[in-house]
Amino acid sequence: MKDNYSFTKEDLEEIEKIKAKFPEVMPATLPVLWVAQRRFGHVEPPVQQLVADTLDLPAAHVHGVASFYTQYYKEEKGKYVLDVCTTTSCQLCGGYKMLHYLEDKLGIKAGETTEDGMFSIQSVECLGACGYAPMMQVTNDVYVNNLTEEKLDTVIEDLKDGSMPDFESVGMPQFEKRK
Ligand code: FES
Repeated sequence: MKDNYSFTKEDLEEIEKIKAKFPEVMPATLPVLWVAQRRFGHVEPPVQQLVADTLDLPAAHVHGVASFYTQYYKEEKGKYVLDVCTTTSCQLCGGYKMLHYLEDKLGIKAGETTEDGMFSIQSVECLGACGYAPMMQVTNDVYVNNLTEEKLDTVIEDLKDGSMPDFESVGMPQFEKRK
């Protein structure tokens, strides 16, 4: 874990624009944490401190927000973070089978990162796509629905080649035009 992090000039300009959208600074915490995670790949405690200093907010507040949401990575992750849902609907439809297949395929357990830094696997709670179970999310972005072992094979190959999965995936609104 590095101790010294700093935002770029472009980041700071973006942060000023974010702050200008709110009557007070506290609600800017969420989007500024995103700016930080995009810049550093995670929001480990020194990054949380940077966000707190930049927004002139208590570190405890920023830590509280960062630790509440699993979408903020509190430790370094791989380039791609594979969130396999193992809550009820997905569990009943083979979520754990998919998780264990992925673990065997990548040689790591949930919560770990491959040695080459390419992939992290996480077992996560419901991601709101229960009708498409079992499903997984790729790095807080594309949902890959109705998982099968064959789909996982293809997703991993696609990601190794640098392209996002191309199934009946549902992107978050800001990423819908990715394909
Ligand atoms: S239970 Fe998996 S998305 Fe809801």
